[in-house]
Amino acid sequence: INASLTIDPHFTVGDVNRRLFGSFVEHLGRCVYGGIYEPGHPTADADGFRTDVAELIRELGVSTIRYPGGNFVSGYRWEDGVGPREDRPKRLDLAWHSTETNEIGLDEFASWAAGVDSELMYAVNLGTRGIDAALDVLEYANIPSGTFWSDQRIANGHPQPHNIRMWCLGNEMDGPWQVGHSTPEEYGRIAVKTARAMRQVDPDLELVVCGSSSAHMPTFGEWERIVLEETYDEVDFISCHAYYEPKNDDFASFLASAVDMDRFIEAVVATADHVKALRSSDKTLNISFDEWNVWYQSRYNEVDKITDVADWPTAPRLLEDSYSVMDAVVFGNLMISLLRHADRVTAASLAQLVNVIAPIMTEPGGISWKQTTFFPFALTSQLAHGRSLEVRLQAPTYASDAYGDVSLVDAVATHDEETGDAAVFLVNRSLTEAVTVQIDVSRLGDVSVVSAQTLHDDDIHARNTLEDPERVGLKENTSASIAGGIVSITLPAVSWTAVAVR
Ligand code: AHR
Repeated sequence: INASLTIDPHFTVGDVNRRLFGSFVEHLGRCVYGGIYEPGHPTADADGFRTDVAELIRELGVSTIRYPGGNFVSGYRWEDGVGPREDRPKRLDLAWHSTETNEIGLDEFASWAAGVDSELMYAVNLGTRGIDAALDVLEYANIPSGTFWSDQRIANGHPQPHNIRMWCLGNEMDGPWQVGHSTPEEYGRIAVKTARAMRQVDPDLELVVCGSSSAHMPTFGEWERIVLEETYDEVDFISCHAYYEPKNDDFASFLASAVDMDRFIEAVVATADHVKALRSSDKTLNISFDEWNVWYQSRYNEVDKITDVADWPTAPRLLEDSYSVMDAVVFGNLMISLLRHADRVTAASLAQLVNVIAPIMTEPGGISWKQTTFFPFALTSQLAHGRSLEVRLQAPTYASDAYGDVSLVDAVATHDEETGDAAVFLVNRSLTEAVTVQIDVSRLGDVSVVSAQTLHDDDIHARNTLEDPERVGLKENTSASIAGGIVSITLPAVSWTAVAVR
């Protein structure tokens, strides 16, 4: 099977914002406790954070980290997590039926995030709380000194403000599972009031209003319209969240999950632009795709969920999905979709970072390792610079039950004008056939292939585990060659590939 595409530096979509390579740490399961933080672990630093995990996070190339939730934030009192540890209360976490010890809070997390070279993106609680608590945490985090909360931060050992720029106005308020679940009208009102108040403190904050928790929510579309009619002038981003898993072993549809993500993004852009037109606004709203991943959510609902109200554990093993090669191919394709919409998707957060539906896993007292999804994330973050380019792709299609006829191959490219570096990211969604792709790079000048790396395994269910942590990894794709300005490369069935040219 053959396919072809053309790279032209003039076919620009938009700048690749580094914030596209964000992630997400929620107080959920073993993401914080036993994940990034494990005092007593042989690699722990003086603050109890695992340095082996921090090193993997740096290697992953994470730009921004959303914190502290997620569903968790909708019942969270941020004040519980600051000040002397011995005074911090234990609380019920209604979202995950766990006990929150509050050993880690804003100060510890902000210092840790800076240490892994990431920007902190903070979510305020608009579930059980509102304007007051949002203003307090903003004052605590960003005001240098001389006020009640800023002086508390200084007294707590943090003389410098955390200077958080990006703030989420709550989380998934459209979801019936959310503590404080609201109608779009209710949420739109509280979000706009909170945004206005926060802007009184600092007009330059970047504010994210909640879109739908999935494109398949019954309120999808209407939620965005109503919320944006209320908040449009006061916010900078609307959020999208999407998770994918195979349904009834329909792998052909699962492999085409990025089609759903494409449609989702385009629908939210259309809705945002509709509100822009209604308001005759000059301002264009962007998307923060601040939760995306493969998540075996049905397993959580059927197996993992804690239902015993008498016993809410601390840091239980929750949502610890183990990712296969096929999952990572879908995952890499979701990154292609994000890049393809780089003009409007200017921030994104892989949900989540450690142990909880994560690219990095840890064993208490033991090793940390890379899941299959680590590889497409790290390499895309490493190679995708400059501008995202539309590729003129010609490839056969296949019939999928979920999305109709879809392309067998998907691809996007990036080009950095300053360095001349370009990268092409491709997937072959075929379950059985290899595809040879001819990539016309002649418009980039006299370039050669710097590297071509592929994620593939003859066993599409192969994965990295505690027992066999290096079973799957990237391999050099030795089929890649260039002649007459055309790169030829063969993509094995169910594979993700990144080609770097210069
Ligand atoms: O990432 C796991 C959960 O998924 C988050 O807490 C919530 O926002 C979403 O439903």
